[in-house]
Amino acid sequence: MMLKLEGISKSFGNKENEPIKTVLNNVTFNVERGEMVAVCGKSGAGKSTLLHILGLLDRPTAGTYRWDDIVLSDEHNDKYLSKIRNEKIGFILQDYGLIEDQTVFDNVALPLMLGTTKLSEIKSKVKKALETVGMLEFTNSMACVLSGGEKQRTAIARALVNEPELILADEPTGALDGENSSIILNSFLKINEMGVTIVIVTHDEDVANMCNRIIRIVDGKIDHIPPNPPL
Ligand SMILES: Nc1ncnc2c1ncn2[C@@H]1O[C@H](COP(=O)(O)OP(=O)(O)OP(=O)(O)O)[C@@H](O)[C@H]1O
Ligand SMILES: [Mg+2]
Repeated sequence: MMLKLEGISKSFGNKENEPIKTVLNNVTFNVERGEMVAVCGKSGAGKSTLLHILGLLDRPTAGTYRWDDIVLSDEHNDKYLSKIRNEKIGFILQDYGLIEDQTVFDNVALPLMLGTTKLSEIKSKVKKALETVGMLEFTNSMACVLSGGEKQRTAIARALVNEPELILADEPTGALDGENSSIILNSFLKINEMGVTIVIVTHDEDVANMCNRIIRIVDGKIDHIPPNPPL
């Protein structure tokens, strides 16, 4: 088991006179290594909150989150959690989060620039990531001239460039038309075939149906947990 969530809850508003709002309520599920899982649910159901907890961007108020049997939910310090976040997790945010006045190359290379990777290695890793999403021909284009679909593929390449074990995507096709959505979906399928575990938050039933499993959240609770499929 790669990721194991047990009784995860998240509440906001712990200040005085502020009502406590429980956004996730006793959420329990597992993700196996190599799975591609969809998280679905209405707006406000708690999907992004759950994704932030999975990605170590936020901590649960109760429950246990394990990664390969290591408990990540509370006793680790921020430095340890940011190491895991930087080395093992790739994020794809809904608004792409690209630096508009930089090239596709520079945007994708960004996560590697923070480390000690040699330039020759950075170049080959960026090339490989852009190849995977079919964006090699745009290597030297400025991010601001790209279409929405091309921006999203650039964002996926950037999430991929560190060779993460887990990719977390929040509504990756939310702003795209059908044709671009299917290009993005094919990129995810290809990345998943390479062995990367993927969790996608989506409203799009076509995207959800391409995943091994759909986890549905209703008012902060898991509505229905299908069994982990055989891999
Ligand atoms: N930092 C916060 N402080 C207070 N409330 C919050 C905070 N973050 C999220 N919430 C609340 O938690 C609930 C769930 O938010 P979340 O962003 O997880 O929903 P979602 O399922 O991703 O919705 P959407 O589909 O619209 O993106 C919302 O009611 C939101 O207002
Ligand atoms: Mg959301």
